[in-house]
Parts: sequence; structure tokens; C-alpha cells
Amino acid sequence: PALDEVLNLHDFEAIAKQVMADKAWAYYSSAADDEITNRENHAAYHRIWFRPRILRDVTKVDWSTTILGHKSSMPLYISATALGKLGHPDGELNLTKAAAKHGVIQMIPTLASCSFDEIVDGAAPGQVQFFQLYVNKDRNITKRIVQHAEARGIKGLFITVDAPQLGRREKDMRMKFEAEDPSEVSKAGSGNVDRSQGAARAISSFIDPGLCWDDLKWFKSITSMPLVLKGVQCWEDALQAYDLNLAGVVLSNHGGRQLDFARSGIEILVEVTMKLKEKRGLTFPNEKFQLYVDGGVRRATDILKAIALGATAVGIGRPFLYAFSAYGPEGMDKALQILQDEFEMNMRLLGAPTLKDVVPSMVDASNVHTH
Ligand code: FNR
Repeated sequence: PALDEVLNLHDFEAIAKQVMADKAWAYYSSAADDEITNRENHAAYHRIWFRPRILRDVTKVDWSTTILGHKSSMPLYISATALGKLGHPDGELNLTKAAAKHGVIQMIPTLASCSFDEIVDGAAPGQVQFFQLYVNKDRNITKRIVQHAEARGIKGLFITVDAPQLGRREKDMRMKFEAEDPSEVSKAGSGNVDRSQGAARAISSFIDPGLCWDDLKWFKSITSMPLVLKGVQCWEDALQAYDLNLAGVVLSNHGGRQLDFARSGIEILVEVTMKLKEKRGLTFPNEKFQLYVDGGVRRATDILKAIALGATAVGIGRPFLYAFSAYGPEGMDKALQILQDEFEMNMRLLGAPTLKDVVPSMVDASNVHTH
């Protein structure tokens, strides 16, 4: 279908499934085990309803915000997704270019297909980028990667903490991954690669399952970038991150690709804001300690629910991969334009001229169970 016929982010998924190479589709779409968490990530948003307000002047609506203190035209960022070239020859650069055009922030993955420097060089002057880190067993490699990222102007370090081992993604395993370009695999920091179990396993054998809380002090000693933990799944860990003076946490289950039956980020958000208020008197959104959510975000309404419940912004993964895999850079541009248009309309319909007006009483989250 022509790009004009794409009306929402779900459409990109349906079209990508038709047009993408089987191997690429399998890697992007797959999730852990029975894919229940992946399904629930989006379904969880269906359990939250709006309580819009009326008769407020919504002639002008503004959904811009700041993320880790940096301007973003929308309360979302492009989450890190590995192997962009499986979907399109320009890989992650499709995201970089569209991010610049729309004023949103891209999180560069450790396992990008383009090199880190290519992606940084591809950015416009002043364009803000974050970096997602998989921690290598060899801390000298990690230190080099982190300090290089900081030297290249990266504004935030998102340390992935939900992947001591990569989840079992059976769709992907059935494809028996073979890297087109062997350097893609060796870049990941391991010469000893298991290719029998799909793309995910093949590229992840360097990740350190020994990573623990004590290591965070070391990270603080090697970088002054703000540190954010990506993949926090309960209030206890969010509290520990706050007490360690980290900049924030991403409440995420890695797009359902890790532990199946992990809860959706939006449900975790409800519990985290409640408990951090109870334990430390914190209210959200909070400049000092920011909460992000990802997984299953497909509409501006999803994002507005997360904002109402205290998130600073959300991360989006697969829809953008599908958009550029099916349509190249124009697809990614269109995906962001769709979200901009959805924000404009839904802010008006909610009666919220700015994101500050999107408050907890604008949603009914009583169907969300908390621990
Ligand atoms: C991911 N994600 C991910 N996260 C991470 O920390 N490092 C990584 O290398 C990757 N790679 C990756 C590849 C693919 C194909 C997907 C779909 C996801 C997880 C990603 O950052 C994010 O948490 C989820 O994608 C969010 O869920 P949605 O938006 O895809 O539903």
C-alpha cells in the first residue's frame, strides 16, 4: 500500500509482515516463550480509561517536554533496537534522520548494525542522542565504549538490566541466524558466537550476567552522563535506583522479549509512583528522578495515559522498525507525523492544553493491579 494509506502505527506492523524478509520479520517481531507479555504490553493500555475535562481553552495545545533535561517535541523517544540493517540498508540512520526532523531523541543501541560513530556522525548539529549499553564481561571494553560515547556528546546512558541472558525467542530461533556480515557479530565483543539459536543468541554472548548493583558505583566513576536503568520491573528496584541517585529508570520488559509473564511497563508505573510517594515522598513527573515506560506503546492515547500516571516520556521500539523496513526514511518520518497529529487531537479532546494538565485524575486506572 501507498504510504498515504497508512493511518496509524498498527498499520506499519501489518504491512511490514507482508513485505519484510522472513528472517528480519522473525527477529523484530519475536518475543519470549509464548509471547504473553508481548501481547499484554499493549493490552494493558486497554484497561485504562480517560476522564477528560471540558470547556477548557484548547485552541493551542503543546505536547513538547524535556527528557533528562533535553527538549523533545513529544513525550517519547526512539528506544534502542538492535540490528537495524535487517530491515533496511540504512539501518539506524533512518531513525537518526527522522528524529532530527521531528525533534525527538534517539537511543542508540550497543548492537546497532551501523557503527556507533556513523550514527553520531549522521546526527544534525545539536541533535541529542542517548546510548543503550549492554555491559560486557570485559569491563575494559565497557569503559572504552562508555567514555567514547560521552566524548562524542551522548547525553544519557541507559544500562539494560533485564537481559543477563537473552530470552528464548522461538520465532527467531527457527530462522537459524546467519549474520550477513560477520563483523556485525564480532563488533558485539565476542569471537565465540552461537549461531544455532537465532539472531538474538548469536549477538549476545558477551553480555555479563554478573552485573549487579555494586557495579553502578563504578559506572559513576567512569562517566558523568546521567545513568538510567532500562528494564526495572518492580518498586523495590526503582527505589534502590533512586537511593543510588541515578537519573531515572525505564519500567520495561524489553518488548516482551525477555521474561515471559513479566508485567507491562504501564502497570509497573502505577505501583512505582504509589510506593515511591509512600516511601520517599516523591511525586511524579519528577525532574530529579525520571520514570520512563516502554512496551506496546502504539498511540498518543497510550502515551497520554503514561504521562497522566507520572511518566516523563515513553520509549517506542517495533513500530519504528516496521515503518522504516516497509518504507525507508519516509516511513519513519510518517510514523512520527502520525503521533504528532494524534497528540494534537487527543490533547484537545482531553481538555489538556499542555502536558502539565495531563494529571492522574484524567485517567481511571482502577483496573490496574498493584503489588
Ligand atoms: C529490542 N529492545 C532492545 N533493548 C535493549 O536494551 N537493547 C537492545 O539491543 C534491544 N534490541 C531490540 C531489538 C528488537 C528487534 C526489539 C523489538 C526490541 C527492546 C526495546 O528497547 C524496547 O524495550 C521495546 O522494543 C519496547 O517495546 P515495543 O515498543 O517494541 O513494543
